[in-house]
Amino acid sequence: MIDRETIDRILNVTNVVDVVSDFVSLKRRGVNHIACCPFHDENTPSFSVSASKGIYKCFGCGKAGNAVSFIMEHEHVTYVEALKYLGKKYGIEIKERELTEEETLASNKRESLMVVSAYAQDYFSKTLWESSDGKAIGRSYFRERGFTDKTIKKYQLGYSPDSRSAFSRSALHEGYKKEYLVAAGLSIEKENALFDRFFGRVIFPIHSISGRVIAFGARTLKQDKTVAKYLNSPESEIYSKSHVLYGIYFAKQAIVRAQKCYLVEGYTDVISMHQAGIENVVASSGTSLTTEQIKLIKRFTPNVTVLYDGDAAGIKASLRGIDMLLGEGLNVKVALFPDGDDPDSFSRKHSASEMDEFLRAAEEDFIAFKTKLLTGEAKNDPIKRAALITDVVRSIAMIPDTITRTVYVKETARIMDMEEALLTAETAKLRRKKLYDGAAVKPADTELPTAENAPVTATLPSFVDNIYHEASEKELIYYLLKFGDRQLFASPNDDRIISVAELIIAELRNDELELQNLHYRKIFDEYAHVTTLLQEERIKHFINHADSEIVTLAIDILSDNYTITIKRFADSDDNPEKLKYDIPYAILVYKSSITKQAYAEISHQLQKAQADGDTAQLKPLMERLLTLQQIRNELSKTLHRIGT
Ligand code: CTP
Ligand code: MN
Repeated sequence: MIDRETIDRILNVTNVVDVVSDFVSLKRRGVNHIACCPFHDENTPSFSVSASKGIYKCFGCGKAGNAVSFIMEHEHVTYVEALKYLGKKYGIEIKERELTEEETLASNKRESLMVVSAYAQDYFSKTLWESSDGKAIGRSYFRERGFTDKTIKKYQLGYSPDSRSAFSRSALHEGYKKEYLVAAGLSIEKENALFDRFFGRVIFPIHSISGRVIAFGARTLKQDKTVAKYLNSPESEIYSKSHVLYGIYFAKQAIVRAQKCYLVEGYTDVISMHQAGIENVVASSGTSLTTEQIKLIKRFTPNVTVLYDGDAAGIKASLRGIDMLLGEGLNVKVALFPDGDDPDSFSRKHSASEMDEFLRAAEEDFIAFKTKLLTGEAKNDPIKRAALITDVVRSIAMIPDTITRTVYVKETARIMDMEEALLTAETAKLRRKKLYDGAAVKPADTELPTAENAPVTATLPSFVDNIYHEASEKELIYYLLKFGDRQLFASPNDDRIISVAELIIAELRNDELELQNLHYRKIFDEYAHVTTLLQEERIKHFINHADSEIVTLAIDILSDNYTITIKRFADSDDNPEKLKYDIPYAILVYKSSITKQAYAEISHQLQKAQADGDTAQLKPLMERLLTLQQIRNELSKTLHRIGT
């Protein structure tokens, strides 16, 4: 842990132009520096660095950030690693926060587990290369599989002797503690004796992202079907299955270079493809994909291609996992191997160039792939077809980016030969469901509509609304960041002058509204918490934020490009008189957008309750609907009054 003071000292001396010029050759242009962007291919420079603002921005690919995020992006390191880099560059001694006793113990234990794992790897490799069984059994097995000596060495493959406790005895003899051998899962303690977990198996060490051995996979050589084919290390302080991708250490450079990551099933697929010259491959090893694993890939590239063998059941089982990739904003493709082949067997039968050619040709967009796969099954069966639509819509709704979603809706409508508008509406509905969980509405104390006159025709929320909603939130954040400390008008309750930030924060809080875009919400919450800082300090807080997505958003919002997208304010966004109108107006627009959404959702629920004969639900739903209707009326009256 680096303490806050050290972080501030580093940030204070860091000069973004200085930092970027270590990697990119910058030319001075006016107050800024420009260059060809290091994050995408281009021939005319659109990458601009501003020393005074401490930021960089590419007008071509949209990448933006500060000195720290530049190092993170460019060097693919974590926030802390980037700070350490800058500390070193500027000669600032990094004071790490002193660890508590508990933390020291934990860190010592982790280190000890790493040490026994390294020993085990060395032991298994030596056994493979030097012992007679290792050579006769282990190495001949790997050879049969087509692994070259170079590959075996690179992946540090090994062999564990076929005797119940040979490894444990050797480790104890070398002075490694029983406690750690057991905690690392290498040995199993039974009635005071130690036994080897992996005896009689070939060994696949699992490496951390920085290349240290943290666990093992072990394959039996027996044909016996009652013996588990693979045994893996159990979870430990250094190994969390859901956070690790097999092969990431050997693949990361290639993933960055190719801007693509192939995702396969297991150890042998990774190794065979790597040996065949395709190095940007990782495996999720036995588990279905987790968000942490996806985030790991995302550090290197947004482009993932999932490789399948042609087993239909397996494909269908994995579809949900792929939806998660979409949810993290990754571009997902799939490639299907011919029947009977997996990436391992295929790459052994074909040359590197054939493999490469095959992947290029076989690769197709995931949503199109899924749509076609399911459409084939649903042919002429209307019920299946309805289920299919829901299923595909679910995938599309996962995609965070609005424009990408729109493109997919078009494409899917074409493949399925159906109305684009229907797909659009269904997608919007699903997203709304995810986003909207009851914007707090005050209970009604007025007369209730009767079942007869209740407005039950649920209007399908339109797609446009959804975009607008987000635009509305962005606009509020813009006012906070750009004009937060600007004095707006005297409070109606006392003589105090209310600032822009006070108005926005109070308006949202009074109605218990939370921004739905998680990044905007984070900015809003943090902004509200740092009330004592000067506006300039506040902006710095976001531009130097540890979360690089916040940094990018803040820079984007503060750039002139954003200002001109808010048309209402194009004449002069900096006119204090105009702000008095524009900000309350923006708040109202936001609120009516939320209310409209809530109204559509509740009337939909009401309609459903009526159809289901769920009478207990009717009254509370109608009450809410009525309140919402009143709020809508109020809001639209006010909007008309102050709008021009
Ligand atoms: N795998 C696993 N646990 C299993 C089976 C498979 O973790 N019980 C993973 C392994 O990582 C393996 C991959 O899935 O590399 C492919 O499975 P499979 O083809 O069954 O394993 P192989 O060792 O290639 O076996 P075979 O020689 O029979 O193809
Ligand atoms: Mn196999």
